[in-house]
Amino acid sequence: MVNNSVAVASVAVVLATYIYFNLNKKSLPKFETSLIKDQFQEFELISIVNHTDEIATYKFKLPSATHKLGLPIGQHITIQYDFFNEETNEKSEIIRHYTPVSLDLETDGYFELLIKKYKLGKMSQLFRNIKVGDKIKVRGPKGFYDYEKILPKKDHLYMICGGTGITPMYQIIRYVYLNKHLDKTKITLIYGNQREEDILLKKELDSLVNLMDGQLKVHYILDNAPKDESWVSKIGYVDKDLLVKCGLKALDESDKNNTQVLLCGPPGLVSGMKKLLSSEFNYPRIKPITKSDDKVFVF
Ligand SMILES: Cc1cc2nc3c(=O)[nH]c(=O)nc-3n(C[C@H](O)[C@H](O)[C@H](O)COP(=O)(O)OP(=O)(O)OC[C@H]3O[C@@H](n4cnc5c(N)ncnc54)[C@H](O)[C@@H]3O)c2cc1C
Ligand SMILES: *[C@@H]1O[C@H](CO)[C@@H](O)[C@H](O)[C@H]1NC(C)=O
Ligand SMILES: *[C@@H]1O[C@H](CO)[C@@H](O)[C@H](O)[C@H]1NC(C)=O
Repeated sequence: MVNNSVAVASVAVVLATYIYFNLNKKSLPKFETSLIKDQFQEFELISIVNHTDEIATYKFKLPSATHKLGLPIGQHITIQYDFFNEETNEKSEIIRHYTPVSLDLETDGYFELLIKKYKLGKMSQLFRNIKVGDKIKVRGPKGFYDYEKILPKKDHLYMICGGTGITPMYQIIRYVYLNKHLDKTKITLIYGNQREEDILLKKELDSLVNLMDGQLKVHYILDNAPKDESWVSKIGYVDKDLLVKCGLKALDESDKNNTQVLLCGPPGLVSGMKKLLSSEFNYPRIKPITKSDDKVFVF
């Protein structure tokens, strides 16, 4: 009798849980994703916010107000542009990669790109000339890093980046922040720029440091010293001493520490860091194309 009522009760609990779960699941807002992997689609520019002469945020409309982009955390989109060379009067089709600073988890109906426009940059020509109402050609998702799929999860991510190389890092940091009740991954961001005014997302990063109670540490590195350098970790290059100061340890054989290094930035920074990690920190030789689970991943 006792056993029976326990059995009945457990069935009831399982059933109730099942119904509760499915009701909740159904009540979640349904969404459609916008990207198609191998096919360029057009997305309309709906606003531009200038940060400096060279840096601006571009907001693009998705097919409906409830659509999401459909980009896994750590992946990027590809933009195609017909570059016009004014000197030779020739057109050439170019593609470049961009990681949105908006997350599907937080946004519906649009996505945002934070772009630095280079004087002689080819894709930069598109962003210099684009007007609200114009369309760009985008396909994706692209990339070998998928943060949510990495198993086992890493204990500590060291992110080393320069300039616009911050955008894939920012996406991961923000995702960890939004899930910080579950995701205890420690993050150390080492972010290099030429001048203070070149630093992208500084306000957002500083506020995340405060919101993440020690889970996120940010080290700014600058080539040129600002007036007040108290908040800068180093004036100059990222070198062995700096990485040691930021807490990076040489990889030990057992790798119980379960750290991963993520790199994104100008070719010089990336190749310099690859050499430094192998020669001074015992990291295995880093292949030209890296995968999600590698000790060092290059975006
Ligand atoms: C995963 C990933 C994510 C990225 N995310 C972002 C992002 O969110 N935002 C962003 O802004 N960028 C991002 N980038 C960088 C982006 O892909 C482009 O490399 C960048 O926008 C420059 O493209 P471009 O065609 O304008 O410049 P390019 O034409 O490729 O030129 C690059 C550099 O060379 C210089 N250059 C070009 N031609 C000459 C010349 N003839 N003589 C001298 N110098 C020259 C340019 O001034 C520029 O400094 C990302 C890159 C990757 C790999
Ligand atoms: C943004 O900057 C561009 C180029 O510097 C300029 O043409 C444009 O008018 C600016 N837009 C706004 C909204 O200030
Ligand atoms: C790894 O963690 C252990 C403690 O679990 C510590 O003693 C050791 O110094 C750490 N090694 C590295 C390379 O971080």
